[in-house]
Amino acid sequence: MGFAKAAFVVSALLGYARAIFTPEKMLAAPRRSTANVNPSGDVALFSSTTYNWTTHKSSTTWNILDVATGNVTEAPFDSSVSEVVWIGDTDTSILYINGSSDEIVGGVALYTADIGTDEFSPTRVASLDAPFAGLKATKTKSGSINFVVNCLSYWNNGSAYNPDLAEVPLSAGQLYDANFVTHFDHYLTQERYAIFSGVLSSINGSLAFDGTMRNLLFELPYTVTKPETPIVPNGDLGDYDISPDGSTVAFLTKAPHLSKANHTASYVYLVPHDGSAFPVPVNGPNTTAPETAQGFSQAPRWSSDSTKLVYQQQDGIAYESDRFKLYVAEINGLDSKITPIAENWDSSPSLALWSKDCSELYVVSELYAANRLWIIPANAEADFRPSNFTGPESVVADFAILPNGDALISSASSWTSRIFYTAKPDDASTKVLLSANEVDPELEGLKPSDVSNFWYEGGDGDLIQCFVYYPGDFDPNKKYPWVFNVHGGPQSSQGDSWSNRWNLRMWADQGYIVTSPQFTGTPSYGQNFTDAIQGNWGGTPYRDLEKLFSYVEENIPFVNTSNAVAVGASYGGYMMNWIQGHNLGRKFKALVTHDGKTNNINAYSELWFIEHDNNGTIWDNYENYARWDPLLHAKNFSTPQFVVHNDLDYRVVISEGYVLFNVLQSLGVPSRFLHFPDEGHWVLNRENSLVWHKSIFNWINYWTGKDEALLQDIVIKQ
Ligand SMILES: *[C@@H]1O[C@H](CO)[C@@H](O)[C@H](O)[C@H]1NC(C)=O
Ligand SMILES: *[C@@H]1O[C@H](CO)[C@@H](O)[C@H](O)[C@H]1NC(C)=O
Ligand SMILES: *[C@@H]1O[C@H](CO)[C@@H](O)[C@H](O)[C@H]1NC(C)=O
Ligand SMILES: *[C@@H]1O[C@H](CO)[C@@H](O)[C@H](O)[C@H]1NC(C)=O
Ligand SMILES: *[C@@H]1O[C@H](CO)[C@@H](O)[C@H](O)[C@H]1NC(C)=O
Ligand SMILES: *[C@@H]1O[C@H](CO)[C@@H](O)[C@H](O)[C@H]1NC(C)=O
Ligand SMILES: *[C@@H]1O[C@H](CO)[C@@H](O)[C@H](O)[C@H]1NC(C)=O
Ligand SMILES: *[C@@H]1O[C@H](CO)[C@@H](O)[C@H](O)[C@H]1NC(C)=O
Ligand SMILES: *[C@@H]1O[C@H](CO)[C@@H](O)[C@H](O)[C@H]1NC(C)=O
Ligand SMILES: *[C@@H]1O[C@H](CO)[C@@H](O)[C@H](O)[C@H]1NC(C)=O
Ligand SMILES: *[C@@H]1O[C@H](CO)[C@@H](O)[C@H](O)[C@H]1NC(C)=O
Ligand SMILES: *[C@@H]1O[C@H](CO)[C@@H](O)[C@H](O)[C@H]1NC(C)=O
Repeated sequence: MGFAKAAFVVSALLGYARAIFTPEKMLAAPRRSTANVNPSGDVALFSSTTYNWTTHKSSTTWNILDVATGNVTEAPFDSSVSEVVWIGDTDTSILYINGSSDEIVGGVALYTADIGTDEFSPTRVASLDAPFAGLKATKTKSGSINFVVNCLSYWNNGSAYNPDLAEVPLSAGQLYDANFVTHFDHYLTQERYAIFSGVLSSINGSLAFDGTMRNLLFELPYTVTKPETPIVPNGDLGDYDISPDGSTVAFLTKAPHLSKANHTASYVYLVPHDGSAFPVPVNGPNTTAPETAQGFSQAPRWSSDSTKLVYQQQDGIAYESDRFKLYVAEINGLDSKITPIAENWDSSPSLALWSKDCSELYVVSELYAANRLWIIPANAEADFRPSNFTGPESVVADFAILPNGDALISSASSWTSRIFYTAKPDDASTKVLLSANEVDPELEGLKPSDVSNFWYEGGDGDLIQCFVYYPGDFDPNKKYPWVFNVHGGPQSSQGDSWSNRWNLRMWADQGYIVTSPQFTGTPSYGQNFTDAIQGNWGGTPYRDLEKLFSYVEENIPFVNTSNAVAVGASYGGYMMNWIQGHNLGRKFKALVTHDGKTNNINAYSELWFIEHDNNGTIWDNYENYARWDPLLHAKNFSTPQFVVHNDLDYRVVISEGYVLFNVLQSLGVPSRFLHFPDEGHWVLNRENSLVWHKSIFNWINYWTGKDEALLQDIVIKQ
């Protein structure tokens, strides 16, 4: 079942001049956080950040969503508040982090307040001496508040690291004995993330802080890999959870006895909130976890009665894209007993929360390129097959369970940057509270019918799903040039979802039909389909793309297949380079490669999946690496190609971009090179993003005959 119809009614009639969805609009439009709902389920807080092209500044407001009406009002505090937790004497009591402390340089402060009162009068309850973040808190029987936060900590004594007060070394040299040296866009330093616990004691009706913050990881014994939570680079407060009774903290950390260079393994640990005992593992070796469960663990979450944890873990010890399986651990003190849940379900859950009575799990898992919600009994047998109670209309980003059992969902899709809605698990009925395309002038005109999808037969006979984006004034009787997008990963999807970096709906408004196939290797179509890209980077996926080209040629009359450009980032950029050396490359007017690999033999700037995807190490399996190397086919490069590569990209390093551009220039192939010294694998700064969009759109518009000339204003002349 889809959304209630009201969600699809576009608020304003468009009149004669259609609103074009431009990069300026996309970059200025509100970016809303997910909704943080209060205990009674009446109101939720979210933040919203906009950008102003006159002042070149962003600004953030906090807002209150009325869950019954969808009405939004401004919260009584400003963007000095970085995080809020609902806790205290009333349903509108909060505890928040104020990121700008006036007491300690580089520190933060904790405040309590009640947003239900007429006058907002916050009380500062603690000053913390470092930039702590990731607040989770619970009220104990005594009325005190037990909380946890995370922060970088000193390697030698475990105390919290405050970069504003730290000594700056005289030399910038950095010496390493073990991985990792870099993460995405920065070099690692000595300090490691840790979680710290603290108590706001209830004394005579007010809260007092004695200044003690305990590093809960510092005492954890390890032989090879130092404990760290959140697990960088992608971890956050989802990597730990405090039991509702306040006694125990569950957290993730990497396997302490294994090297990070060739293992992805991480485990859940338990530690008393007061730090009175060493942390003990829930899963991993010598626990009650099944021996098959060896890989990456995620998202430990307590049941409301503090007696159980749910989490997910992959089997593979060195494979980042294995399927996550669900586990429930019964907890008794620091002891635990693990049971796998619905383990034969061929789906890879990313988050599970307990129903209030602890009998069911509300689970987020992706199907056909959209995160959906599923209900699973907390004791489900191996063969249990859950059903989804949300559909493909939007991609779930986060959710909360309301007191009546409904889910309050924060999601998005290609036509709306944020939808807040409620969904009932029993009959899947939904109610939209707010959809960005109905309230944000920048998103005017975006609608669900601007995207569709079809399935076609791929290179090895599998059915492949392909998403199609239409310009807002789409007319099926016209013929449109074609943007042939290839997603990154390769083990990630790019379906009907919102992106501030690759917003395919916005690309369509340049006057194109945009396609985005979920080729072999894409998750959410069964684990075998994901795994089939192993040893096969330029194989089946390439043939899937060839088949897409002929499918569109034969079946879609409104696409001018002789006026097409192909574009892609990361693995999609690799695929552009692979296509450039092969027949498919000759079918495009131009190509765009963003941060893609040119030289597959230079694989080890990344770890783990490189060895997995090439079926072994380069020293034992050189031919596997060489087999799918785009550079070895450079003799065929001849299609005009735009190359973007950024200096701080430490995943696919800048040399890949230089090599590609140098080869194209040496061959005399029309080419441009765009680079940002202050960006990594992704272009995040809005001013940079505008230049990125303008120069790439000009490139594709020029080669498809829409623009008369290539942009010259920012070009560096020789
Ligand atoms: C952007 O800033 C200018 C100058 O302060 C102001 O006049 C304008 O209203 C702002 N635009 C928006 C959309 O807030
Ligand atoms: C929404 O909030 C505004 C401001 O508080 C109020 O005037 C209006 O009546 C509310 N609307 C609904 C439907 O509750
Ligand atoms: C945050 O802290 C600053 C500095 O102490 C103070 O001026 C400001 O009022 C605080 N804001 C809130 C919402 O607590
Ligand atoms: C911990 O070690 C760092 C680095 O040596 C030092 O600067 C800091 O003062 C120490 N903290 C405590 C609480 O001893
Ligand atoms: C609590 O209040 C009582 C009565 O006012 C007072 O005697 C006592 O000292 C207070 N305790 C603390 C810890 O402030
Ligand atoms: C990781 O490397 C070690 C040598 O440092 C080796 O013994 C081990 O087999 C490797 N493990 C994997 C999963 O590749
Ligand atoms: C598990 O137990 C075995 C046998 O006692 C021991 O040799 C091994 O080191 C333990 N593994 C871990 C990771 O603690
Ligand atoms: C569950 O997913 C299927 C497949 O996309 C979809 O057809 C169905 O509508 C979804 N169910 C609900 C209740 O949204
Ligand atoms: C996945 O592949 C394995 C090995 O070929 C096969 O046994 C299994 O049935 C497949 N799983 C599904 C869900 O198709
Ligand atoms: C790589 O491993 C997969 C899965 O085991 C296998 O299907 C494939 O044939 C292997 N490819 C190469 C080139 O060894
Ligand atoms: C299709 O594209 C080709 C190549 O740019 C162009 O010559 C032709 O006119 C286009 N066809 C239509 C119907 O627009
Ligand atoms: C160039 O492309 C042709 C046609 O796809 C292919 O047969 C040939 O092997 C390619 N040459 C190289 C060096 O890849």
